[in-house]
Amino acid sequence: MVPSPHSLRLSAARRFRGRFTLPGDKSICHRLALLGALAEGETRVGNFSSAADCASTLECLSLLGVTNKRAGSHVSIQGRGVGALTAPATVLPAGNSGSTLRMLAGILAGRPFTSTIAGDASLNGRPVERVARPLRALGAHVETTDGKPPVTIQGAGLRGIEWTLEVASAQVKTAVLLAGLQASGTTTVREPESTRDHTERLLPAFGVELSRAPGSVSVSGRDRPLTPLAWDAPGDASSAAFLVVAALIRPDSAVRVEGVLLNPLRTAFLDVLRSMGADVTWVTMSRDPEPVGWIEARTSRLQGVDVPPHLVPGLIDEVPALAVAAAAAEGVTRVSGAAELRVKESDRLAALAEGLGRMGVAVTEQPDGLTIEGGRPWKGASVRSLGDHRIAMALAVAALGAEGDTELEGAECASVSFPEFYDVLRQAAAAP
Ligand code: S3P
Repeated sequence: MVPSPHSLRLSAARRFRGRFTLPGDKSICHRLALLGALAEGETRVGNFSSAADCASTLECLSLLGVTNKRAGSHVSIQGRGVGALTAPATVLPAGNSGSTLRMLAGILAGRPFTSTIAGDASLNGRPVERVARPLRALGAHVETTDGKPPVTIQGAGLRGIEWTLEVASAQVKTAVLLAGLQASGTTTVREPESTRDHTERLLPAFGVELSRAPGSVSVSGRDRPLTPLAWDAPGDASSAAFLVVAALIRPDSAVRVEGVLLNPLRTAFLDVLRSMGADVTWVTMSRDPEPVGWIEARTSRLQGVDVPPHLVPGLIDEVPALAVAAAAAEGVTRVSGAAELRVKESDRLAALAEGLGRMGVAVTEQPDGLTIEGGRPWKGASVRSLGDHRIAMALAVAALGAEGDTELEGAECASVSFPEFYDVLRQAAAAP
């Protein structure tokens, strides 16, 4: 999303309280839509994500001939098998969504037509060779624009490969697996660091056998379509992170988030918060195909911690929220091995250093991380989202803990992942 001049005035919250269920997890809903498109029959998803990013995936699929119906938060995807996808008449618009572009590229790599996927100004500045390279190795013809979108894909008959990820990326892993489903033989993806495994958990729910070993996953090409699925998507774990941190840093505060995704490859932020001294509890209530449960968090006295590189892939999207917790924590928090944050929807290390810095938080930026000296009051300021949804939400949570008002420029981009965010903030800040 391109930053807009729209700005929002946010005041400090005396407390932050409430019980919430959140719209479906964005990562999971992208995959449900994509896998539903490969299935034969109707995939029905309850609590589908309200994120603009997931709407981009649905729009691209409909331009490829896969229709969907939306009724409230229910989305049904009318799959007719991968063979029914048709050449799009226009460029496929991935909007702000790297997940849409990179994962869809894996499907298109095996289709016998040419298609182009493009994004908004932010996405068109992000790296895609990481996904183009393995798709070429599988046999597709893929052209990038100096390593960035737009990406043009001429699908081909694919042959299975073994591929080791260059960067820890679940989007790239997924793209290779989706291409692998259309390839002859077996396709194996090795990952040096574990990344979210939603694709590996959801493929069997769509009737696809895969073999998993520590650090690798393999699929075989198949002629049969996937079988459709009916499931209610669990609440978005990354959205929950902002509410959890808001409750931790405000006095007399407590939140409970129910029906939320608790996949262990997405909950590392909760482990880190707990190691900071946070009063946070989470309990898994069901496990199939994904762990789902509740999280409770209360006002806490936090301490700074080191977040070492090996933890980063498991909390890559939660660093902005954690940075706000670090501002409130006594002592120093260091996040390292997080250079990937520089190529997200914005350069998140620079954006956090700028935004929190303007509020008077002592933040220093390293090439691969941040150092935050917390525990001192910070003040409201004029800050910018830089068109990045998670920066907007992190700075809004920081504003709740600031002395004086904050003017947040480009606040509306929160709708990329969490359109209800400011309503939820207002509700929790006004709760008795
Ligand atoms: C995602 C993977 C991560 C994450 C993104 C969603 C996914 O991106 O940051 O928000 O759904 O697979 P990378 O694959 O680029 O690490």
